[in-house]
Amino acid sequence: MNFSEIPKTELHLHLEGAAPPDFIRRLAAEKGVGMDGVFDADGAYVWSDFVEFLRTYERACEVLKTPEDFGRLVSAVLKEQMVHGVIYTEMFLAPDFCGGGDLVAWKEYLAAMSEAAEASAVEVRFIPTCVRHFGPEQARVSARLSAETAGGLVTGFGMGGDESAHSAADFAYAFDMAREAGLGLTSHAGEVEGPSSVVETMDALKVSRIGHGVRSIEDPALVRRLADEGVVLEVCPGSNIALGIFTDYKAHPIAALRDAGVLLTVSTDDPPYFHTDMSAEYRGLHAALGWKRDDFDAINRAAMNAAFCDEDTKARMLARFNGA
Ligand code: ADE
Ligand code: ZN
Repeated sequence: MNFSEIPKTELHLHLEGAAPPDFIRRLAAEKGVGMDGVFDADGAYVWSDFVEFLRTYERACEVLKTPEDFGRLVSAVLKEQMVHGVIYTEMFLAPDFCGGGDLVAWKEYLAAMSEAAEASAVEVRFIPTCVRHFGPEQARVSARLSAETAGGLVTGFGMGGDESAHSAADFAYAFDMAREAGLGLTSHAGEVEGPSSVVETMDALKVSRIGHGVRSIEDPALVRRLADEGVVLEVCPGSNIALGIFTDYKAHPIAALRDAGVLLTVSTDDPPYFHTDMSAEYRGLHAALGWKRDDFDAINRAAMNAAFCDEDTKARMLARFNGA
């Protein structure tokens, strides 16, 4: 099977986390920004655990300063996604890194990113995300910027960052604001923390999708609830394995969750940090679990049905997958 040729939908990709190391290095050199400790001798991002991963990620983001930098980043990431057959992608991006909360500045960043996205053959939507460990106040600022610019390519609102910081309920105001603006909602939960994190997120933030959610497998009642309520998990197996949450694709609960009737999708999260890409994810699922083209088409149809886009776009994308 040629895994890169299979058409794919990706719903969980952090724009900043998808930045190729060479891209960040080149930009740092152009701007004279020091990047000590960000890269190892082979040029890869350095981190050893989840907290250090987040720290390196934020250090690398320091070189992304102007709207033009972000436009160039969108182009670089989409070029990489095309290599792996991605035809529809939803990109998380943190307004915290785009103009410090100022609406006029945010619109300039968004314009540059939208221009880059619209020049690509990949169909793109943006999901501005708040960063949990930056706290609820900053989350409200991100939600307000997202609500003010809802429409166009901004179709969702989400939350990433350190899941152990604050409680989900602290972000309810931000998510309510985004919901009222008509944005689709997703939040990371059940990645590094256990099932109670997923339950709290569903109850307090009323999201239709959960980023990761894989540790839900530890609570059979939660697995049933996810299946019953049709909440979709954005599963990123390579990311979970790289972060040591599961040892390998065989030990990953993706098959058990699917067999239990949970709707799920497959994405890469932060591909260069986790040494993965969409072709590698499909190859891993095929090698460990025997997943074939039919399984991948079903996953992609589930992803498109859960996508934060208009019905016409959904129908157009669904037609590209077998069995639609
Ligand atoms: N931000 C970028 N990648 C993330 C991840 N895997 N978990 C939480 N926050 C993130
Ligand atoms: Zn993520």
